[in-house]
Amino acid sequence: MSKTLNWGIIGPGKIARKFAQALQRVPGCGLVAVGSRDLEKANQFAKEFGAKKSYGTYEALAADKEVDIVYVATPHTFHYAHSMLCLENGKSVLCEKPLSVDRKSALELTQAATAKGLFLMEAMWTRFLPLTQKIDELLAANTIGKPTYLRADFGFPAPFNPESRLYNLGLGGGAMLDIGVYPLFLALHVMGIPGGVISHSHLSETGSDIATSAILHYEDGKIADIHCSLNAQTPLTAEIAGPDGLIVIERPWYKANSLAIKRRDDSIVTIDVSYGDNGFEYQIQEAFQCIESGRKESLLLPHHFSILMAGIAEEITNRAGIKYVVQSL
Ligand SMILES: NC(=O)c1ccc[n+]([C@@H]2O[C@H](COP(=O)([O-])OP(=O)(O)OC[C@H]3O[C@@H](n4cnc5c(N)ncnc54)[C@H](OP(=O)(O)O)[C@@H]3O)[C@@H](O)[C@H]2O)c1
Repeated sequence: MSKTLNWGIIGPGKIARKFAQALQRVPGCGLVAVGSRDLEKANQFAKEFGAKKSYGTYEALAADKEVDIVYVATPHTFHYAHSMLCLENGKSVLCEKPLSVDRKSALELTQAATAKGLFLMEAMWTRFLPLTQKIDELLAANTIGKPTYLRADFGFPAPFNPESRLYNLGLGGGAMLDIGVYPLFLALHVMGIPGGVISHSHLSETGSDIATSAILHYEDGKIADIHCSLNAQTPLTAEIAGPDGLIVIERPWYKANSLAIKRRDDSIVTIDVSYGDNGFEYQIQEAFQCIESGRKESLLLPHHFSILMAGIAEEITNRAGIKYVVQSL
C-alpha cells in the first residue's frame, strides 16, 4: 500500500486525544474523520487535529468510503458494537482495550474481521513499547533463567462516582477491565496460558470491582500474582523472577522508560527503554505496517492473545458476580 492510511476515530474523549496527538507523528498515517454522538464535539476535535471530516453519528463515520481504519475509543461495553459496525462497513479496526467484555464477543469480532479480510487489533499499547521488546530480549537470552514468578499491579484512587466510566457497569466499570488488563497482559505475555486462575474482588456500590487480585498458576510451577485497584495508590511496579535473577520494572511499569536486572550477587544493571513521544505511536506503527504488508492481525498481539485475555478477565469478573451491561448501537 503506497497511499496514506486514512484513520477515523469513534468516541473523541480523553484517550482519543492522546491517540490523535500520536497519529500526527506517524509517517504514512493521517486522521481524516472524527465521529461523535455530538456533531459540534466532532467538529472541534477534527479542527484541533486537522481532520477534514466530522460526523454526528458513529454510523456516518463507519460509512465514509475514504476511511481505511477506525480507532474505537468508546467505553468497554460499546467496543463490540462499535468495532462490529466498522468491520461490517469494510473498515479495519484498532479497538481500545479490552477488545470486549467477554471471550465470546471478542472471538466474534476476530471471526468477523477474518471473514471480511480486515485488520483488527486490540490497542494494548504496552505490547509495542521498547519496554516489552527489551523484556522479550532479556528472557530469550536467558538473563534470569526461566521466569517462575511474576508480580505486577496497577492501582490508583478514583473517587466513587456511580455514573463514571470507572464505576458504571453500563460502561464496563471496574478495575479489572480498565487497568487490570495491563498486569494480566504482562502475566500472559511472559508466562503463557495458565493452568488455572484464583481470584478475589471487592465490589463497589454499583457492583463493579473496586479491587481485584488474581493468581495465575501453571502446571510447570510458575505463578503470576496480579492486582488492580481503584481505591489505593499501588506501587505500579512489576517484577519477573527466575532462578538467576530478577527483572524489575519501576513505576509506572506499564509505560516504563527503564528497567533493571538484579542478579543474585546483588549487582544491578539498569537498561534504558525510553521513547520519545507519548508511546501510542508504536501501536499505530504496528497497525500501519500490518496493513501495508497485507496482514490481518498483528504477530505481536495476535487475535488469540486478545481472546485469551478476554476469557481470563471474564472468568475473574464472573467469579466476583460482576454483570456488565453490554450496549448496542
Ligand atoms: N490505552 C490507554 O492508555 C487508555 C487510557 C484510558 C482509557 N483507555 C480506553 O479508552 C476507552 C475510552 O476511555 P476514555 O478515558 O477516553 O473515556 P472518555 O474520555 O469518557 O471517552 C469515551 C468516549 O466514548 C464516547 N461514548 C459513547 N457512548 C458513551 C457513553 N454512553 N458514555 C460515555 N461516553 C460514550 C464519547 O464520545 P462522544 O460522546 O463524543 O461520541 C466519549 O468521549 C476505554 O475503553 C478505555 O479502556 C485506554
